[in-house]
Amino acid sequence: MIARILDGVAIAATIRAEVRDDVAALAREGVVPGLAVVLVGDDPASQVYVRSKGKACLEAGMHSETVTLAAEASETEILATIDRLNADPRIDGILCQLPVPPHVNAERVIRRIDPAKDVDGFHPVNVGKTALGDPTGFQPATPFGVQQLLIRAGVPTEGAHAVIVGRSNIVGRPLANLLSLDTAGGNATTTLAHSRTRDLAALCRTADILIVAIGRAGFLGADAVKPGATVIDVGINRVDDATRPRGYRLAGDVDFESVSAVAGAITPVPGGVGPMTIAMLLVNTVRAARARVQPDA
Ligand code: GUN
Repeated sequence: MIARILDGVAIAATIRAEVRDDVAALAREGVVPGLAVVLVGDDPASQVYVRSKGKACLEAGMHSETVTLAAEASETEILATIDRLNADPRIDGILCQLPVPPHVNAERVIRRIDPAKDVDGFHPVNVGKTALGDPTGFQPATPFGVQQLLIRAGVPTEGAHAVIVGRSNIVGRPLANLLSLDTAGGNATTTLAHSRTRDLAALCRTADILIVAIGRAGFLGADAVKPGATVIDVGINRVDDATRPRGYRLAGDVDFESVSAVAGAITPVPGGVGPMTIAMLLVNTVRAARARVQPDA
């Protein structure tokens, strides 16, 4: 079988067009949604992500602010930046790009963000709301994007066995919650697997939907995939490649060549989940802006 390619670029473009319409409607009410991104240090991958987020905001007609702090910035300085953005009426959404340098406690930074502006959905208030299926919470952009991709690509989740490999707070754990809720794009039977899972390949072969978010290039191969399964590859790994102008290429967490010969559908890397993450961040920011002007809507 040659897998159907799930085109995250095209689906994200549709969502971003919807966001542009929402932003235009808000503009008619005199509201411009604003997103602030805080970047601490000079991690090259984070710099790329932060630039993409800022550009996407501007393309949607939103206000964008990027605050870049030195890798040596103190936690006090970072918290003061968050306090300023919490109080800024032009800013509806705030995120601190992770990872932060080792001397900074990421949990304390996340907890400082006003939950009403926490468009990353990482604050414990929003983590709890996501777990409870409370629609007033923010879902983290990557799991939210994976769920939207499944919905819009017509992959049924109801009754399906979804195996998620990787238990991070950013992707795996919230995704297990989202896919198991009694909602559209939910009602899956979810299994959250991780580095200590026994017989991982055998477990993955029971998946109708296999989602891999482990952060290691080519971690799973065709032996871990049931024929016809849908494979969602969340990994974005830099692999040395002297034939490329930048000296590296991007690779996912599954071995695309062998897996796409077995799977029924698969997301490519790049061009799968990555664009969905940015699109859903914009969706969350528009929601935050709307909640500010229509708190009871
Ligand atoms: N680092 C990797 N993914 C994310 C994300 O979704 N949000 C933030 N803030 N940092 C990240």
